[in-house]
Amino acid sequence: MQYRALGRSGINVSLLSLGTGGASHFGQKTGVDDAGRKLLVRTALDLGVNLFDTSEQYGRSEEMLGLALEGVPRDRYLLATKWSYRPGGELAQPEALVSCVERSLGLLKTDVIDVMQFHGILPKDYDAVVERYVPAMQSLRDQGKVRLIGFTEMMVQDPKHTVPVRALKEHPEVWDMVMLKYGILNQWAAKEALPLAEKHGAGVLNMAPVRLTLTRLDEQKALFERWRDEGTVDVSGLDEQDPFGWLLHDGVDSVIDAGYRFAAMNSGISSVITGTSNVEHLKANARSLEAATLPDADYERLLKLFADSAAPN
Ligand SMILES: NC(=O)c1ccc[n+]([C@@H]2O[C@H](COP(=O)([O-])OP(=O)(O)OC[C@H]3O[C@@H](n4cnc5c(N)ncnc54)[C@H](OP(=O)(O)O)[C@@H]3O)[C@@H](O)[C@H]2O)c1
Repeated sequence: MQYRALGRSGINVSLLSLGTGGASHFGQKTGVDDAGRKLLVRTALDLGVNLFDTSEQYGRSEEMLGLALEGVPRDRYLLATKWSYRPGGELAQPEALVSCVERSLGLLKTDVIDVMQFHGILPKDYDAVVERYVPAMQSLRDQGKVRLIGFTEMMVQDPKHTVPVRALKEHPEVWDMVMLKYGILNQWAAKEALPLAEKHGAGVLNMAPVRLTLTRLDEQKALFERWRDEGTVDVSGLDEQDPFGWLLHDGVDSVIDAGYRFAAMNSGISSVITGTSNVEHLKANARSLEAATLPDADYERLLKLFADSAAPN
């Protein structure tokens, strides 16, 4: 496993980390039981993974992660979780953040959360988050309950990363880390958000790097058809029936493999989060991140083809 600096924090994070949300929700949506989750987590640790990402919004994931990690020395892993500041659509009271952190500490069976994130900041809410909630979060950090402060973006509502860009331009001292989406079909972050994060020493967790489109040929075909009709991305040189077949050579054995490798190739990325709940997939993804590179010509071609692409999923 490779490790990278989590921004200016002084913490090294594994290039692959494990998420407990997404389509699988830590196996809650894919029929994995507690024993299977424990195996997944222990396999991740054996592979060198040292960061686990969760949220109060991921069903019972926090509690299940706490259970799966029981007995593992606390200094072997980092815990990242999130608070939703808009439960039911309304802005919450700042006190709700304090209760959320207390609850998360209990469920995760720990006395400190390494990375506490505002979950999915919408562009219209950025000012409210900074004014209403950041002071409460900083106070939790001063009390030693939280180590690093960050936020995640909403990739569908904010595919061009206006929130990360604003945050890193206006309040770089507040944000220790940012979670955003960067991948073969989501390269927009390379324009401004990732360079800003590097400049200010903010760690970047790359979420959902393959998710829907790169895991399903039918989704790839539909997206390419749409691009061809709209004329937004020039895909004329690609085979519409197998748009990424040309990537599979020299050890790259699937589009998913290529997707995870690409997700780590920008130096602004600290760690790539996989949301798999399948042990064999986890091992395959660790191999992708061990390589973390694509043949130069293919990488250059992907950068050229999809530089302006911000596909939501
Ligand atoms: N706004 C936010 O805060 C936000 C949004 C999205 C995600 N996240 C975080 O990022 C994490 C990752 O998101 P994600 O789950 O969407 O990420 P992802 O890793 O891009 O996608 C996971 C999907 O890909 C499949 N997959 C993964 N590896 C595979 C392989 N080797 N072969 C075949 N299929 C594979 C998984 O199915 P299997 O389970 O069958 O492998 C699952 O359906 C989440 O768990 C969460 O922690 C945060």
